[in-house]
Amino acid sequence: MRAVREVDDSLLGRIHARQARVGVVGLGYVGLPLSMAFGEAGFPVLGLDIDERKIEKLKAGESYISSIASPAVARLTASGSLQATTDFSRAAELDCVVICVPTPLTSAREPDMSFIIQTAESLAPIVRKEQLYVLESTTYPGTTDEVLRPILESGGLKAGADFYLAYSPEREDPGNKRFTTKTIPKIIGGYTPRCLEVALALYGAAVKETVAVSSTRVAELAKLLENIFRCVNIALVNELKMLCDRMKLDVWEVIGAASTKPFGFMPFLPGPGLGGHCIPIDPFYLTWKARQFEFQTKFIELAGEVNTQMPHYVAHRTMEALNLQRKSLNGASVLILGAAYKKDVNDIRESPSLRVITLLKEHGALVEYHDPHVPRLEKGGHFAHELRSVPISPERISSYDAVLILTDHSSIDYGMIVANAKQVVDTRNATSKVSRGREKIVKA
Ligand SMILES: NC(=O)c1ccc[n+]([C@@H]2O[C@H](COP(=O)([O-])OP(=O)(O)OC[C@H]3O[C@@H](n4cnc5c(N)ncnc54)[C@H](O)[C@@H]3O)[C@@H](O)[C@H]2O)c1
Repeated sequence: MRAVREVDDSLLGRIHARQARVGVVGLGYVGLPLSMAFGEAGFPVLGLDIDERKIEKLKAGESYISSIASPAVARLTASGSLQATTDFSRAAELDCVVICVPTPLTSAREPDMSFIIQTAESLAPIVRKEQLYVLESTTYPGTTDEVLRPILESGGLKAGADFYLAYSPEREDPGNKRFTTKTIPKIIGGYTPRCLEVALALYGAAVKETVAVSSTRVAELAKLLENIFRCVNIALVNELKMLCDRMKLDVWEVIGAASTKPFGFMPFLPGPGLGGHCIPIDPFYLTWKARQFEFQTKFIELAGEVNTQMPHYVAHRTMEALNLQRKSLNGASVLILGAAYKKDVNDIRESPSLRVITLLKEHGALVEYHDPHVPRLEKGGHFAHELRSVPISPERISSYDAVLILTDHSSIDYGMIVANAKQVVDTRNATSKVSRGREKIVKA
């Protein structure tokens, strides 16, 4: 007789046996790598998204995220470990459901819970006993308990008693090759101690290190603290940069010198403003929630004020740079280097480059841009222009009145830029290693 391996049929037993079927809802920058981590850990994974194009790509074994290689996706889809669908009725098959949908701000800059609510409403009919639900979307403390739980419980089953509920924030850093979903420690807070135990078992099977905290609210606020910490410190060095420019000191040299302190200091770098999907947005989730407690988050507000002024400051510095050539910004030709919000990625979400382009055009400048990772910029949101990345060559660089570096992509030859440009405005210290032609560089 064939030996049958006995599997404890509780959810915990199924997780330990890698038999629990894991669903990931929202297959974006967070959800896709997470699905792959669960698949690589041996779980059968079902990815759910409302975007047909993403599902078609995954079915064809292709990646749509620049930091994820298609062969890695193809391996998982070909073996059947990772399936993808837009059909939410298939969620009924799942034992564990992880939610990674967007949490943007509304036009009034308040938390937009609509994606979480819509997802929860489509999952509510399939909630059953011994299932685990985990929210990963970045959000204010209380969301899992106050927004997600009531919707999941609407069919009568109770979190903690019938099904398990937890919150575990994502810490993805797109483009960072030193860390992956598997190697970044994962904070987890459960609705009850038993919920925590089950969620720890699931993530413990897929990532190297889990960090248990006492509640979903602690886990939610820990994630916000991480991003607020960055937002506030970036604002601090941005303010210092503006002061340094006035004092004719090099802020980068100051930061470099301070960074030699082996304890109690961590360098943050100035730039043309905040970008990306997280740092400019997430802090305002806490500001909004704090108001319900009659509390004002002054550091966050102040950091927001400084950081949103940075594109204006950069436009002003470009004007000053042109002034050195007796030129006005009105009518000047300016090449922007870099449209992505940070180096070596193709992500333009909330990119300060879009704001700077808009401001320069409002002042009458003739603006073009070059970005090896962003072939075109389209109208949308607050951006009202259609632009294509132009090729660069020594002749072309010399034809602009000024070249403005907004993103320090590694593939650009900054020596060539400085050698040929009439004037360079550098917001990223990208030209620090260029020795010739430094008199043409204006720091901004
Ligand atoms: N990108 C990051 O670096 C990062 C890092 C940490 C945390 N986060 C947080 O993770 C969450 C997701 O971010 P992201 O960057 O992966 O976003 P994303 O926009 O790349 O992906 C979200 C996905 O959810 C899908 N979606 C939207 N509504 C849906 C629905 N009702 N059902 C199923 N799918 C739906 C979208 O089609 C999209 O594919 C956000 O809360 C974000 O703040 C992001």
